[in-house]
Amino acid sequence: MIVRKLKPNVYSISAIDWNRKLFDELVPLPEGTSYNAYVVKGSEKTALIDTVHPTMSGEFIRALKSLGLERLDYIVSNHAEPDHSGSIPAVLAEYPDAKVLANVKCRSLLKASFDLPPESLVLLQDNQTLSMGDKSLHFMWVPWVHWPDTTFTYLREDRILFSCDFLGAHLATSDLYADDEARVERAALTYYAEIMMTYRPNVIKALKRLESLDIAMIGASHGPVYARPEFILSLYRRWAGDDTRPLVVIPYLSMYESTAKMVAYLVDRLMEKGLAVQPYNVVDLDTGRLASSLVEASTIVFASPTVLEGPHPAMASAAYLINALRPKTKFAAIIGSYGWGTTMPETLTPLLPNLKVEWFPPVNIAGVPKADSYAALDALAAAILTANSVEPLPA
Ligand code: FEO
Repeated sequence: MIVRKLKPNVYSISAIDWNRKLFDELVPLPEGTSYNAYVVKGSEKTALIDTVHPTMSGEFIRALKSLGLERLDYIVSNHAEPDHSGSIPAVLAEYPDAKVLANVKCRSLLKASFDLPPESLVLLQDNQTLSMGDKSLHFMWVPWVHWPDTTFTYLREDRILFSCDFLGAHLATSDLYADDEARVERAALTYYAEIMMTYRPNVIKALKRLESLDIAMIGASHGPVYARPEFILSLYRRWAGDDTRPLVVIPYLSMYESTAKMVAYLVDRLMEKGLAVQPYNVVDLDTGRLASSLVEASTIVFASPTVLEGPHPAMASAAYLINALRPKTKFAAIIGSYGWGTTMPETLTPLLPNLKVEWFPPVNIAGVPKADSYAALDALAAAILTANSVEPLPA
């Protein structure tokens, strides 16, 4: 773990977790991740902004000490989730006089996880500014992007925003800066989809709040530093905005190939009409890819056979996740095949109360698809096309 200079007396210490495969036992990390901390040395005081995952405390302390700090005055806790706060006890053990600055919510979350000395904890107020001599930190409490405690810390003199998880990317890279923008955009999109999308109204509020700041650089808590802030801010404005694009995401599975045939037929018809389509078999689901597709998808078609009078449990699980992610999707449909129970659509729909969509009539068929089944799918494809206002491709 190394210390890298961002500006005079401003440093990044990034704990790069090259091999981590899964976050929260849920989110795939195809390119690992990093936990980023920052050090700001003012002429009178020195602050550490966040720490790193507790499994990397030892290396982190060694990196911190390589800066030759004789004292550390403040540990700013932007967020109490342990991937950023988990090394606070280790830092306090080295610098026992340091004060842990946290807002009231963050403080209570820290108290729940760590046995920190009460005299170390100092309460931060929203919009408070802390002078450290020739540098000052301004704190903004921006709840629910993605925890209730989330704080942005803005270093006024260098115009650097330390944005906590907001604007982050799960990406293990030796790049200090987000120079490979295509790679960073992919990682940031997945991160937004999995962690921020469900809080889209709060993302918009947070972006609005940032408009008051003159930002030259953004250091998020995961992924490389943005030396060109507009790159990630414009992406967030697009992802969190109301507009969708004509993309049909189809979570599906099939037991006897009937539902699979329906999906294949629908995919072909939609493609013929010039619509983008992305089917995902939910039996072996990459939740990151699914979530990323949902960020701007206009339409979701759930395709499931019937099991025990409802959707297959793998579809129910995917539906639970999609409902929790609250995508801004505008249209949805349910298709599938059954043997004897006809109530799959009626059982699946209540699992999706957070989808604020216009539902197309379901296409739920008995057994294998026949001419009338394909005709119903033609009608669904036409309705999706109309809803998406796409000119059909010439025949
Ligand atoms: Fe990266 Fe919410 O912690």
